[in-house]
Amino acid sequence: MKRSGVGGSGTGATQPRNARGQGAARSAGDWWASYFDADYLTEYGPIFDLQRDRREVARLVELLALPAGARVLDLPCGQGRHAHLLAEAGFDVDGVDYSPDLLAAARQRGTGRTLRYTRADMRQLPARWSGRFDAVVNLFTSFGFFADPADDARTIAEVARVLAPGGMFIFHAGSRDGVMAKFLTRDWWRTSDGTTITQERSFDPLSGQLTIETSSAGPSAFVAREHRIRLYTATRIAELCAANGLTVTEAHDGWRDRPLTRRSGEMLLVAHKAPPVSPMRRPRPAARTARLPGAGRSR
Ligand SMILES: C[S@@+](CC[C@H](N)C(=O)[O-])C[C@H]1O[C@@H](n2cnc3c(N)ncnc32)[C@H](O)[C@@H]1O
Repeated sequence: MKRSGVGGSGTGATQPRNARGQGAARSAGDWWASYFDADYLTEYGPIFDLQRDRREVARLVELLALPAGARVLDLPCGQGRHAHLLAEAGFDVDGVDYSPDLLAAARQRGTGRTLRYTRADMRQLPARWSGRFDAVVNLFTSFGFFADPADDARTIAEVARVLAPGGMFIFHAGSRDGVMAKFLTRDWWRTSDGTTITQERSFDPLSGQLTIETSSAGPSAFVAREHRIRLYTATRIAELCAANGLTVTEAHDGWRDRPLTRRSGEMLLVAHKAPPVSPMRRPRPAARTARLPGAGRSR
């Protein structure tokens, strides 16, 4: 399945939604509030593969290099495909998302002492979480959804606020440079039940917004819809991070262990919050190191 380097978020209904009746009367700018539902799971079904999720979480475990018990926030977590495996790997995980449908799917897979889900807007995380997390991950192009780019900046500010001093931020998304280098105006794929998904894509270089119109045919067909993502360059993400006290130290070619290039369709950036000023370090849970996913029990 080919995609325009957008980690998979196509997204956002501009119409009162679908046959399930969700999300009526929302403005086009708020497409993200209703788009992530059962139809989203159908649309991107071929990407949601456990083996792929395990590979991605193995890479996260490697990059994070945090001890077991470290606090990780998956923001936003969607249906919990990374959050669940991060908890399985030994971290203490919070998943945040706005979509009730995807949170229900995540909770159905299992929760526990080290895996909790919370419904919140990524622009305004719980006040009590200031300085709480050793790492925050933002994966699969879960950024650039808001009509006003200032709201994207607010999201980064919230990430910085909830990170502990010395904490890490991992950002994985479509890279504007690479998406432009290999722009696909049309793409299609088939889901496991034979539904054909077709996307038409256009890009506005001034706003930086990619508009994706999705239609479908077959057993799980849904009402045609449209969503819009502001694509960022690694440069701009690094600037937004820097404005909030986060320093990007690594830029990878998506999930691959090689450098980001101008042709990389996806980027994975690693940023750090400055360590505490005092030489006294926050005690970390010692002993065990987080396991690679798949090594433990499955929920
Ligand atoms: C492309 S999905 C990726 C989810 C997850 N990171 C993954 O890899 O499967 C983007 C997610 O962002 C969530 N989302 C959209 N707008 C949000 C907001 N304002 N606050 C919190 N979550 C939001 C959606 O509900 C959806 O689950």
